[in-house]
Amino acid sequence: MNYISGKTIKDLRERKSLTQKQLAQRLMVSDKTVSKWETGRGLPDITMIEPLARELQVSVAELLAGEWSENSNRSANMLKGRFYVCPMCGNIIFSCGEGSFSCCGITLPPLEPEERDSSHFISAEQIEYEHYITLEHPMEKDHYISFIACVTDSDVCIVKLYPEQNPGARFKMRGSCAVFAYCNRHGLYKIKL
Ligand SMILES: [Fe+2]
Repeated sequence: MNYISGKTIKDLRERKSLTQKQLAQRLMVSDKTVSKWETGRGLPDITMIEPLARELQVSVAELLAGEWSENSNRSANMLKGRFYVCPMCGNIIFSCGEGSFSCCGITLPPLEPEERDSSHFISAEQIEYEHYITLEHPMEKDHYISFIACVTDSDVCIVKLYPEQNPGARFKMRGSCAVFAYCNRHGLYKIKL
């Protein structure tokens, strides 16, 4: 079995409404080369996989597996959005729709928030027109709250935290919202306000 399927390249190219010639130009190869890949008469060199995935707007993993998900943000209700955190670099991604997101070469699964527990107890206090969010949680180098976020139906506000800081954040009150706190070791916790 080939490590990449010609049909996958063809399907993804057509999804992007690109001709073989257009894709070839972007990759600085000839249109004959692209035609060979698609008909199984040749395989792209391994060094072409990343640029090919980039041009076809899928992750390398999706390109090689031949399975990809359609990104969409039709729901547009931020409260239905999902957080993704890269385990390698700690990058935070928030998506308001279905999609496939990758960082450091890894396709990231959406985080499933848990209700707060005794060791990740999110407290909310109202101070004037702000929610003051705090947690009793270690803020050590290898175990800390790395962000606190407040999500309403129309916006999201993320406060990044670092070890040695206080695990707290302030958010302007903007109607009903969900507050999330992410522990680098134990995952995502949530309360509704
Ligand atoms: Fe924790």
